[in-house]
Amino acid sequence: MCGIVGYIGRRKAAGIVIEGLKRLEYRGYDSFGVVTTNDSLHISKKSGRISDGGSGAAGLPGTAGIGHTRWATHGIPNDQNAHPHLDCTGKIAVVHNGIIENYAELRRDLTARGHTFSSDTDTEVIAHLVEEQYAGDLAAAVRAILPLLQGSYALLVIAEGDDRIIAARMASPLVIGVGDREFFCASDVTPLIDHTRRVIYLEDGDCAVLSCSEYTINHDGMAVDRPVEEVDWDIQDARKGGFSHFMQKEIFEQPQVFYNTIHAVRESPDALAHLVGSRMSIMIVACGSSYHAALLCKYLIEVYCGIPVRVEIGSEFKYYTPPLNVPVIGITQSGETADTLAALKMAQAWGCPTIAITNVVGSSVTRIADATIYTRAGPEISVAATKSFIAQLAAALQIAGSLSDDPGLEEELDRVNVMIEDTLTVPIDDAVALCTQAHSIFFIGRGFYYPVALEGALKMKEISYIHAEGYAAGELKHGPFALLSPDTPVVALAMPGKTYPVMISNIKEIKARGAPVIGIGVAGDMELPEIADIFIPLSPSHEVAGIAMVSVILQRLAYHVADALGCDIDKPRNLAKSVTVE
Ligand code: F6R
Repeated sequence: MCGIVGYIGRRKAAGIVIEGLKRLEYRGYDSFGVVTTNDSLHISKKSGRISDGGSGAAGLPGTAGIGHTRWATHGIPNDQNAHPHLDCTGKIAVVHNGIIENYAELRRDLTARGHTFSSDTDTEVIAHLVEEQYAGDLAAAVRAILPLLQGSYALLVIAEGDDRIIAARMASPLVIGVGDREFFCASDVTPLIDHTRRVIYLEDGDCAVLSCSEYTINHDGMAVDRPVEEVDWDIQDARKGGFSHFMQKEIFEQPQVFYNTIHAVRESPDALAHLVGSRMSIMIVACGSSYHAALLCKYLIEVYCGIPVRVEIGSEFKYYTPPLNVPVIGITQSGETADTLAALKMAQAWGCPTIAITNVVGSSVTRIADATIYTRAGPEISVAATKSFIAQLAAALQIAGSLSDDPGLEEELDRVNVMIEDTLTVPIDDAVALCTQAHSIFFIGRGFYYPVALEGALKMKEISYIHAEGYAAGELKHGPFALLSPDTPVVALAMPGKTYPVMISNIKEIKARGAPVIGIGVAGDMELPEIADIFIPLSPSHEVAGIAMVSVILQRLAYHVADALGCDIDKPRNLAKSVTVE
């Protein structure tokens, strides 16, 4: 995820763009760049954070400009890969948030037609494609190339000698700010409300043209009107995009994160080849939430691909695992967790091929592993993992989809982001009220929902400080039943599937021991609402969407309980985002 900003009007553009990019740094901060135009283009870009080094760009002349703050996806974070990207003539400049999935093919074709590339990014193909179409009308050239792009994009384009900014959106957010003889555009409203409260949310497929005096929006070749809406946030709120906490904001980013990640993993053929090459068995190492994602990965690959998978906690693997001869995957959001890194180094010493699944380009794990699969969660600021967990789940699902003989699985994955979106507004107030009073909470599930229960409990204890335990539902009667009481709610994950009937039996056993039950199932279930004290109905869906949806509900439950208890949600006590010691 990256942030983009554009300005055109009567004021100097560079400063406005730079300040806007600073507001978007939560979306990415490994490099940045700005390009402005008067008679010619003036460009400044470099690796690092704009909040540390934007001053070089501040002197750029011109009253129109676009800029970008990057979270590297294609190509390491360095000066060359920082946006804006230029065409061969250096007269067309592009900034882009999203992923161009067919960039490799486009780049091959463009190179064959004589174009020269100066970066490793997917974005640069856009500049060269526009160059081929440009005959004096930038808007027409951009519109002509959009159908060639597969994937997600919010992009801004300017050209020397053309006093306009062209903005286009597909599956990545883009907002226009309407000022007094000036217009702004950005990835969200955060940078806009310093200047205007009047905004237009572009829709997928929209292409807008901004000049100092007017804007027009085109969709499918037709001019369209989009409503101008009033934003009533104050600037303080907007730094978190209007959300009270980064955790809440990151929960809401998950539909896009899921979409971005499955597409990114589809483009990692080398890393996947390591796995496909050895269909005998696979080992996965990870810690914390990443360990829960690893457990999900095991269930998914075993169920959908029939390949045995073993999972170990990083810190245990290192001391107790006998030498292996299988591919070893390390899952780590930060790419810096010491125990996971040590486990991978040990696996390498045994001669095992190693694969990293990480969210951070250039992190230590990418330098250790033989191959890397990137999740596309963007920077996660809240200490508690939410969107990075969903991105790891997306990666696991896509790996299972790629290794499976069932072509239908990948098709299902394309629908999951919509189902996650649906889950973000499911009412959970009664469940929050019950958990807020609890001394201890159990989370139970079977099969796929066992790791989801573990993750739900981790989230709850980590940010609300209420003791919580995740259990395989069948295990509760082997000891924990002794703890059940009216102030020990049990969150039971009873989604459709082969374990549903036995989950219902488990819930009845729990009820008989006096503990209140929060049942999470699907709308239309006749039995669960009858026996659960509180029923949370989710939309019926394929089981791969169900895993993501229940995970999101449990994140929201933990978030709202912690909020009701007044906890420091984004920075829970005693915890750090990256655990670089054993
Ligand atoms: C929990 C959480 C931690 C991390 C763990 C591993 O919300 O964030 O449990 O999952 O510290 O971190 P990474 O994935 O960076 O290796």
